[in-house]
Amino acid sequence: MSRFPSDLKGPHPEEPAQRASRRTQDGGACFETRPAVAPQQEDRWGIGRLAFALSATVLLVTAPALADPPKPLGLGRPALPAELQAWDISVLPDGRGLPPGKGNAKRGEEIFIEKCAACHGEFGEGVGRWPVLAGGMGSLKADRPDKTVGSFWPAPTTLFDYIRRAMPYGNAQSLTPDEIYSLTAYVLHMSDVIRDPEQELTEKTLPQVTMPNAAGFFDDDRETSERHFWRDDVCMKECRSEPPKVTGRAMVLDVTPDSKTAPRVE
Ligand code: HEC
Repeated sequence: MSRFPSDLKGPHPEEPAQRASRRTQDGGACFETRPAVAPQQEDRWGIGRLAFALSATVLLVTAPALADPPKPLGLGRPALPAELQAWDISVLPDGRGLPPGKGNAKRGEEIFIEKCAACHGEFGEGVGRWPVLAGGMGSLKADRPDKTVGSFWPAPTTLFDYIRRAMPYGNAQSLTPDEIYSLTAYVLHMSDVIRDPEQELTEKTLPQVTMPNAAGFFDDDRETSERHFWRDDVCMKECRSEPPKVTGRAMVLDVTPDSKTAPRVE
């Protein structure tokens, strides 16, 4: 899913680690976070192999020193509180970061038709190839799962974050908090997550909405659930007890169109 805003660095240092260790029930890995790596400064091949080898050694020897914080260069200035506030618009799954405001699906529908339906369709069905926002309930285990806000997203709060951060596409961050609460309510209403079109969503009530697939996300449990696969004496040679069996051939399965049946490419 660019299913979640990826821009969650900053004021909540515990968050990326939590997200890194989550995966979805249908096996898709969601997020991967990597530690920042200090840039290599010395590896210029132009100087020659010896120089490279030497500098690599120097890098190895000085690696601990690179971990020290860099010396200030005398550039820039500390960010102002207002600048930080404008940048820090993340809303976390538990609702931290939601601004005060309110809205319901009835008002949301009007705004949606004006600002969103051109792409997403009046009922979230998606126009052309623009994303579908509603439906797909119960399809996650199907061959072609229909992942929408209603069928897939685990938290209602990150829907607020997403709309505020990224929509309407092409005019992002132009909506007021009340408009976003209303749109959030309408998007949830389209998937029947919220039934009453007049139910007010606020910074207090939005986190209490339960999403249908909330239980479909869980902390990575492979260390326990897959422990029985792990072994110390890994087999590296002649590990099969019987010869491999061919169960299908690409030509029979017709995955590769041949010259007779394939559409002509100009
Ligand atoms: C110009 C077309 C366009 C308009 C208008 C538009 N969107 Fe989108 N919307 C997109 C595209 C494209 C994506 C997917 C972006 C991506 O994955 O990076 C998207 C994704 C979304 C998603 C996430 C869907 C998912 O399951 O990942 C939501 C929610 C959403 N839009 C809500 C809205 C709302 C609410 C509005 C009106 C304020 C709106 N959009 C207006 C094009 C549009």
